[in-house]
Amino acid sequence: MSAATGKKAVLQLDGKEIELPIYSGTLGPDVIDVKDVLASGHFTFDPGFMATAACESKITFIDGDKGVLLHRGYPIDQLATQADYLETCYLLLNGELPTAEQKAEFDAKVRNHTMVHDQVSRFFNGFRRDAHPMAIMVGVVGALSAFYHNALDIEDVNHREITAIRLIAKIPTLAAWSYKYTVGQPFIYPRNDLGYAENFLHMMFATPADRDYKVNPVLAKAMDRIFTLHADHEQNASTSTVRLAGSTGANPYACISSGISALWGPAHGGANEAVLRMLDEIGSVENVAEFMEKVKRKEVKLMGFGHRVYKNFDPRAKVMKQTCDEVLEALGINDPQLELAMELEKIALNDPYFVERKLYPNVDFYSGIILKAIGIPTDMFTVIFALGRTVGWISHWLEMHASPYKIGRPRQLYTGEAQRDIKR
Ligand code: CMC
Repeated sequence: MSAATGKKAVLQLDGKEIELPIYSGTLGPDVIDVKDVLASGHFTFDPGFMATAACESKITFIDGDKGVLLHRGYPIDQLATQADYLETCYLLLNGELPTAEQKAEFDAKVRNHTMVHDQVSRFFNGFRRDAHPMAIMVGVVGALSAFYHNALDIEDVNHREITAIRLIAKIPTLAAWSYKYTVGQPFIYPRNDLGYAENFLHMMFATPADRDYKVNPVLAKAMDRIFTLHADHEQNASTSTVRLAGSTGANPYACISSGISALWGPAHGGANEAVLRMLDEIGSVENVAEFMEKVKRKEVKLMGFGHRVYKNFDPRAKVMKQTCDEVLEALGINDPQLELAMELEKIALNDPYFVERKLYPNVDFYSGIILKAIGIPTDMFTVIFALGRTVGWISHWLEMHASPYKIGRPRQLYTGEAQRDIKR
């Protein structure tokens, strides 16, 4: 529980004073507890939750001014370079990095649950072949709730834990199948002798015709790192959606599906796809200046730039750029879009429009270039984000259910019609 500081904020309202307690966390700004404002007949007003701490959490900390991201206290760059994705999952779920024994046990548990019920595979047929894979993901992940509902007791800690494992294990299978379906190839079943990212790439790119297909280890490592970089990001829009849906006691698979829906928007996880489309539209370095003028006239946004919380470099973007360089070098690819992206970044970081607004590259700016090099099609980029973020969503869902919680129910400033009577 958060520590009371003994400090109080005093709100003067209608000639009365309301004392509001102030709490301190381990890091970050203190928070003012505004619950007692309600008794005065007022609500607080904060559209977009710019200044609202919606919950207490021990999972992830961000210092947006300094460009710091910590999971359970560990900096993201250390996790991305010294731990693998499943270790990061274990950390997010349990609070500590696993010992060798715990790691072996956790990996084995995840491997054991990679298959989906055969009936789930039939859901794909309901979609058009040209459906966006995120639309398919919203549907098929939500459909898992039909397979785990009657026997799932969310009050039971063991049921919650197995739900977390199932989601982490099955999401790569569903993600890869959402691609296979749209290209008309048969689904490839998971192989439990492969690592997590390797297995995902195998399900994406192997075909029954190519029995000897082997995943390039450089690409598997890069994929694993991309998953790690997306694993959690405290109370962002999709995680808050999962918490809100979860606060009603809803089925966790349906809650994760709601997170996938929230992630899809171009202001959130959909930005990685939008970055590559933007680079395609700009075409070449000569057109950058003209594009920047359009951005400054607010006709378009520079996708992959800016963040609600980071007013400095997104620490994930730094590791992503490094990974991008490594992958392109290992594959011997000279991608002109990388050159274009670097030119855009250079101009933006020196342009007063971006400097004054503290707009820096975010995680999505370079991820698309790596994903393209790996062979992932553009409309799968946000699916990859969803795959990596599933552990974050489920960790927050678990944290919420581990202690008493209230249904999330914001209020409003009503500006519609006052009461009136129907007159006919
Ligand atoms: N390009 C041009 N101008 C921008 C951009 C951008 N990418 N982002 C913000 N601005 C401007 C914005 O127009 C505003 O200008 P003014 O003060 O003149 O009105 C100012 O900067 C402040 O922006 P804001 O919209 O109030 O900031 P926000 O915190 O509400 O929005 C954001 C954050 C991420 C939605 C926004 O920066 C954006 O749309 N970026 C592009 C999309 C993107 O890359 N999203 C991925 C975020 S990281 C992945 C994730 O975690 O989801």
